[in-house]
Amino acid sequence: MLNITVLVSGGGTNLQAIIDAIKSGTISNAKISLVISSRKDAYALKRAEDAGIGTMVISRKECADSSDYENKMLEALKAAGTELIVLAGFMTVLPESMINEYENRIINIHPSLIPSFCGKGYYGLKVHEEALKRGVKLTGATVHFVDKGCDTGPIIIQKAVEVEDGDTPEILQKRVMEQAEWKILPKAIDLIANGKVTVRDEKVFIM
Ligand code: GAR
Repeated sequence: MLNITVLVSGGGTNLQAIIDAIKSGTISNAKISLVISSRKDAYALKRAEDAGIGTMVISRKECADSSDYENKMLEALKAAGTELIVLAGFMTVLPESMINEYENRIINIHPSLIPSFCGKGYYGLKVHEEALKRGVKLTGATVHFVDKGCDTGPIIIQKAVEVEDGDTPEILQKRVMEQAEWKILPKAIDLIANGKVTVRDEKVFIM
């Protein structure tokens, strides 16, 4: 049984999709042991509590320095027996030591088709604002492994979503979540939990 820690910062709809998928059996062989939030006011914490999952708040800003933050995160992850870290709307940059320690064991959901609209400064609603500004007809979401770069790690699953006339960033965000994010994040976790994902030459192969 794959032991997962989910990292969140906001509303937690992706966390909810994972909780629901474990409950319904869409994800097998996995459980969430811990949810860590970067903010104490994140609604995601309430979702975790309602599902009976342990929670912690570790805020980068409230740590003395970056090594204090690193130590607190690593300690919490280890104490929970974490085997896979899922970034589900997590808005803090991870310390390099954590990325090294959990190589190919950290995944992230990003609300665009990488390599479009990703990298530094592209997060949350901003991604959809930029997609609309550029006038793309297709956008979507990507689940990828996290490496030392920003949104540069091996891609696991992508799903395209159509942009429609009259879309606002909020409308587009909701469609991308419903049609792509809430499907491909649970799917990627299920594939990993069942040993179907390998990484070779920085590319993902699904069996
Ligand atoms: C999601 O759209 C997720 O893809 C995005 O933040 C939102 C969090 O929503 N993540 C990023 O932009 C990461 N670069 P949620 O808290 O409701 O899951």
